[in-house]
Amino acid sequence: CGIVGYIGNNQAAPFLLDGMSKLEYRGYDSAGIAVYEKGKITVEKCVGRLDSLRQKLDGHMPEGTMGIGHTRWATHGRPSDRNSHPHTDASGEFVVVHNGIIENYLVLKEDLIAKGHKFVSETDTEVVAHLMAAYYDGDFEETVKRVLRVIEGSYSLVFMCAKEPEKIICTKKDNPLVIGLGEGENFIASDIPAIIAKTRRTFIMSDGEIATVTKDSVWVQDINGTPISKKVFEVNWNAEAAEKGGFEHFMLKEIYEQPKSIRDTMTGRVPKDSHGIEFTELGWTEEEMAGINKIFIVACGTAYHAGIVGKYYLEQLARIPVEVDIASEFRYRSPLVDGNSLTIVISQSGETSDTLAALKEAKRLGSRTLAVTNVVGSSISREADQVVYTYAGPEIAVASTKAYTTQLLVMLMLAIYVGRLRGTLDIAKAHKLVEGLHDIPEQIHKLLENVDQIKVFATRYGSSEDAFFLGRSLDYAVALEGALKLKEISYIHAEAYAAGELKHGTLALIVEGVPVIVLATQPDVYDKTVSNLQEVKAREAMVIAIAFEGDDSIAKYADHVIFIPRTDKYLAPLLAVLPLQLLAYYAALTRGCDVDKPRNLAKSVTVE
Ligand code: G6P
Repeated sequence: CGIVGYIGNNQAAPFLLDGMSKLEYRGYDSAGIAVYEKGKITVEKCVGRLDSLRQKLDGHMPEGTMGIGHTRWATHGRPSDRNSHPHTDASGEFVVVHNGIIENYLVLKEDLIAKGHKFVSETDTEVVAHLMAAYYDGDFEETVKRVLRVIEGSYSLVFMCAKEPEKIICTKKDNPLVIGLGEGENFIASDIPAIIAKTRRTFIMSDGEIATVTKDSVWVQDINGTPISKKVFEVNWNAEAAEKGGFEHFMLKEIYEQPKSIRDTMTGRVPKDSHGIEFTELGWTEEEMAGINKIFIVACGTAYHAGIVGKYYLEQLARIPVEVDIASEFRYRSPLVDGNSLTIVISQSGETSDTLAALKEAKRLGSRTLAVTNVVGSSISREADQVVYTYAGPEIAVASTKAYTTQLLVMLMLAIYVGRLRGTLDIAKAHKLVEGLHDIPEQIHKLLENVDQIKVFATRYGSSEDAFFLGRSLDYAVALEGALKLKEISYIHAEAYAAGELKHGTLALIVEGVPVIVLATQPDVYDKTVSNLQEVKAREAMVIAIAFEGDDSIAKYADHVIFIPRTDKYLAPLLAVLPLQLLAYYAALTRGCDVDKPRNLAKSVTVE
């Protein structure tokens, strides 16, 4: 989502709309603004792109010099007028816009309802506005602090109060928020593009800070009231760079967003110190699971590759037979789907027509259906019986990165969840996996801090016309995605093979100097993979191995090794794919390709 705020001597609404247009890429299913004037706050919002809001406001723009605005990317509650931000309490005196997820909103909401509060939306955010009203005692800042003490989750929040006309209050945790400093006016935004047309003097809010913004001042404190002095930072990005958060391409920005998208997708589902996974949106029971004897996973492109990983997870941890299908093939092969089947469709956009058609076919055949998608309210989410969302946030680059890793995560969480329900996964193993999951965001972060070696390989081997990706078991599934990434953005012909299959044909293609990327993270098949590595090395291929830190032996055989942090074998795909994404990215860069918009490809394919 995108957030903007304005307080000053000028009209707020025109700035809000302009700032929101710069953030529309961060969310575009609905938009809204709230403007204060003479003791009253006017809220205007509607579902659809920002243009729909502009049309609604045409001729009657709300007047006032203080306001907040929001473009939404739905998480809780489908896109609708009511679910759009800003949200208010029942009196309309407290107004809030929010990015992120309030994890404990259901408990808080039930409590407020018991106290007589009436809610109009399905969002987690509305709870915050009601809490403000419930706690307000004449001190705006103190009320915000009280609310912060009870909410859990991730957020950037911006508040206005009709009783406090001279100030906007904002705060954040695990979501971005910046303040722009002007002359007699100040600006608030979730991202720099929204404000650089007005000012380049900004400061970046840190987690736990609370800012009181008036037209002439900004006062920052922590929750205990300790003042915090902030360093003003002069933005020197141009508008285009700012939109990409300072990264050269959306793809790179999205690669670097993976610690956050993984954390967001785990939020509320991987309780600390627990032995399992919670999916309140599914609420499956042991009896229900007993009725399922086969799972079909259906998807296209990168999502299909996440499905292949999902098959390994579900079969090994939940012991249910799984078939994975390319969506465009599924319908035409008379799949043996029936009332005892569960069909899982995976789709980032939720709009891919082949996947949607496959979903409808599975339903027609009597299967239960579950969608794993990144877009709340998308066609696929509406069609499926049940939905588990990935919270990757909007993905702009055609080549999928952060959506893929969140899809892997959801498939693993599902396998743990089902494995526990079916009793095929013991508590100790589940606990170990859950513990490992908690470390993943930080491990990804660590990996992404050290990419010089990958840049060097990409430059050195970027002129190759062919590349091969090998692995066994889960490494093979990840190899498929590595090859797709490389071919779709760098146009290098890339193929993935199960390492053991090599000798049945592919070995004929391995000649001197051909880059071969060998993934070797799976302990059960490690020795065999290393043998295959030696087979290609014997044909003088140039071998880059991907292996766990501390694996010193592999360096004896490979030309180069990219090390990833050590983790459980089931979690390895979440880390092993990162060097492959980066290799593809830097190879494409070396070859001068249009990274974010590769030739002939589209982000969302709505034709069959
Ligand atoms: C297109 C995109 C791919 C994507 C595939 C499936 O081909 O270019 O990156 O993996 O569609 O998209 P979906 O939105 O269904 O995941």
